[in-house]
Amino acid sequence: MVMTVKTVLRAAAGLSIVGGLAAGAAMAAGGGGPTIEQQKWSFGGVRGHFDRAQLQRGFQVYKEVCASCHSMNRISFRNLSQPGGPEFPEDGVKNLASTYQVVDGPNDQGKMLKRPAKPSDPIPSPFDNEQQARSANNGALPPNLSLIARARGIEVEKPFWMVPVHMVKDIGTGYQEAGADYVFALLTGYADVPAYKNENGHLVLIPAAQAKGDKAALRCATVDRGEPGKPDVCNKLGDGMNYNVYFPGNQIAMAPPLQDGQLKYSDKSPETVAQYAKDFAAFSAWAADPKLEERKRIGLMSMLYLLITTVLLYFAKKRIWSKVPH
Ligand code: HEC
Repeated sequence: MVMTVKTVLRAAAGLSIVGGLAAGAAMAAGGGGPTIEQQKWSFGGVRGHFDRAQLQRGFQVYKEVCASCHSMNRISFRNLSQPGGPEFPEDGVKNLASTYQVVDGPNDQGKMLKRPAKPSDPIPSPFDNEQQARSANNGALPPNLSLIARARGIEVEKPFWMVPVHMVKDIGTGYQEAGADYVFALLTGYADVPAYKNENGHLVLIPAAQAKGDKAALRCATVDRGEPGKPDVCNKLGDGMNYNVYFPGNQIAMAPPLQDGQLKYSDKSPETVAQYAKDFAAFSAWAADPKLEERKRIGLMSMLYLLITTVLLYFAKKRIWSKVPH
């Protein structure tokens, strides 16, 4: 068989496309941290609703644990009793607000005064300013958590040709809970620093059980793989840092904030880190999107409206065009 120049070129082009795709896939599969699992959320999907009791527990976790470092000042006390949120009774929220002191003023003499908070006040921040927050936290800034569920997401490590498929799937299932999934993973993602052994400059991960008795094991938060012929680099955990599987870079300045049994729930929910984390994640999802329920309801109604309009237009079109002779 004689191959013409044209067929050779065509074959080469074909091969390079296949090669390019394979290289792309290898790159996509190479980087990144562990996959963050998608949790089941009551507010997920097209018709999702918040679980009131869960939001109330989530607020309890924030108030009793996280509020000593993190502000959530985009929420006012009164939001806690509004429809679509935790829906605490109004009196309870009024009492809660009055236990906080806020600065108000200036008064007629130009002085700033402290007074008990009112339901219309934002939830006060634990620190007066960024400098104070940093100096209390080893230089790290605990971010405002009001919008954290919107500010974070998850990256799915998939070959690039699968990206459109995932996008369509996310649209179809109405997936918008990536922020809550990340917050949950972060809060439950504290672990021992992984151990490695050095094999001729190549760092090999050793299982946790085996690493316990092994004095020579190297503890590395992350490993930079050396270029061919160069040894790998072990990045140790920095001073005052904590290892977290899901935090980008795996070193976080926040110590594990939750422990099993730390909080007493008044309902029968389990008092575990996973449950606390899940409840806070749901609460943060509400805080970042307080109109979620309304938005989903209106979205569904609009789709229904468009569907009915489509049917009507179809029959209208048939009727109009039926008069045109073939
Ligand atoms: C002792 C102070 C302290 C407490 C208590 C605390 N945090 Fe933090 N948190 C921090 C600091 C400091 C950072 C910044 C970490 C960094 O940038 O390395 C942080 C960061 C975070 C982040 C952002 C992570 C990211 O992706 O940037 C989230 C979310 C978070 N904390 C949630 C919580 C929750 C939920 C609680 C309560 C259960 C909590 N924190 C309790 C100090 C605290």
